[in-house]
Amino acid sequence: MARKIAAGNWKMNGGSAALSELTALAEATAGATAEIIICPPATLLSRASDATKDTPIAIGGQDCHTASAGAHTGDISTEMLTDAGAMSVILGHSERRTDHGETDALVCAKAETALSANLTAIVCIGETLEEREAGQTLAVAGRQLAASVPASATGATCVVAYEPVWAIGTGKVPTLEQIAEVHDFLRAELTTRFGAEIAEGISLLYGGSVKSSNAADIFAVSNVDGALVGGASLKAADFAPIVTALSNS
Ligand code: 13P
Repeated sequence: MARKIAAGNWKMNGGSAALSELTALAEATAGATAEIIICPPATLLSRASDATKDTPIAIGGQDCHTASAGAHTGDISTEMLTDAGAMSVILGHSERRTDHGETDALVCAKAETALSANLTAIVCIGETLEEREAGQTLAVAGRQLAASVPASATGATCVVAYEPVWAIGTGKVPTLEQIAEVHDFLRAELTTRFGAEIAEGISLLYGGSVKSSNAADIFAVSNVDGALVGGASLKAADFAPIVTALSNS
């Protein structure tokens, strides 16, 4: 069985003042059974790890380099993430694919680096609106999945987040049928590639305009094992009900 995971991606948001949200989140989710991961900006990783030390909240990064150290201005290595207390890292988010031209091959290489460093790789895939309207959703998802998820992936080390680009930060959410179609397809593709035992252990998260008002419905969809949440993860009051909905699903 795949782990139930509620992951928050703070993106390029939050300074010192945001750390109090972690304490509030821990209090508001006490007793929750779903795994909770918060991925703050790199500047907050160490302090976020300290702030969540005695709580079930795990901290993750938002990107990593494939090298362990060196002349890569502005980048962050898996060693640095681990040193700062991170347990996981988001890779291949559509904003990085767009803003930084990240390819499937690079995302796969980063995921391999993350796995070698014992970080859980949260690999993001998803189609643009143009691709969906052209009827290419499954083709794109299948291609990205095959090329971005490393051969060494297991349920313990790798999570896949399906985030339709057009649903990110827009308030637009696919229908539950559309989410089910993609998630069922992803599970089938993983099964073909890795076999049922590994495929069923890989958590499939949905991401894109998840809110407390739609979370329970999304978590009831087949092959949805959790969510990767942007805007609604910034405030404990918004994210805690999503964690609770997942725990109750
Ligand atoms: P929103 O939840 O703000 O739509 O962002 C989703 C996302 O990109 C998470 O990685």
